[in-house]
Amino acid sequence: MKGVIFVELVKMAEQAFGEDTVDMVIEKADLENGGAFTTVGNYPCSELVKMVVAFSNHSGLSAEALQIQFGHWMMDFFAEHYPEFFVDRTSAFSLLEAVDREIHVEVKKLYPDAELPRFETERHGENRMEMVYSSPRPLDAFCQGLIEACLKRFGEEGEIQRVAHPGNPNVMTFDIKLHA
Ligand code: HEM
Repeated sequence: MKGVIFVELVKMAEQAFGEDTVDMVIEKADLENGGAFTTVGNYPCSELVKMVVAFSNHSGLSAEALQIQFGHWMMDFFAEHYPEFFVDRTSAFSLLEAVDREIHVEVKKLYPDAELPRFETERHGENRMEMVYSSPRPLDAFCQGLIEACLKRFGEEGEIQRVAHPGNPNVMTFDIKLHA
């Protein structure tokens, strides 16, 4: 997983808990490289999960809530650093449909070593879309935060329900219903 994701998680935690606390939590978290992440490096996703658990233990916030918050944070980061993926998008659904078809395709060209999830989307009328997330990485809640942040970006409101696929832990359906 790209170093930028790790660097941004540390930044988010620093803003939330303060730099000294983050240094201490990372030191105790027993990370492979002592938590020295750089944007040009690549690190195992398990290290990201370890950090989330460490911040969760420290703060009392659930790992789930922290991953969702991090999804919001990364959406803001992507919008700032990759504005070309956002121009011409007029709705959250159109942006979400573009992730697998265009955005992550471009990301893969830019960073051939990126480990990206797959998405299939299906619209059910104007206000409902199912987005099926497939990834061997356990980042469902992170994905939820990214989807929530997409809605927010377009001033849309709605409910996102997660539907698991028994027998296939790598797949999760996000059933997104917009308030009409
Ligand atoms: C809009 C601009 C976007 C950019 C530039 C972008 C780029 C990236 C990058 C660089 C990674 C890390 C890959 C790696 O570490 O190897 C990533 C991962 C990921 N992206 Fe995107 N992304 C964007 C939008 C989205 C959106 C809207 C969603 C939500 C549906 C999404 C879902 C994910 C997820 C869930 C991962 C984690 C990897 C996994 O679950 O397997 N991305 N993306």
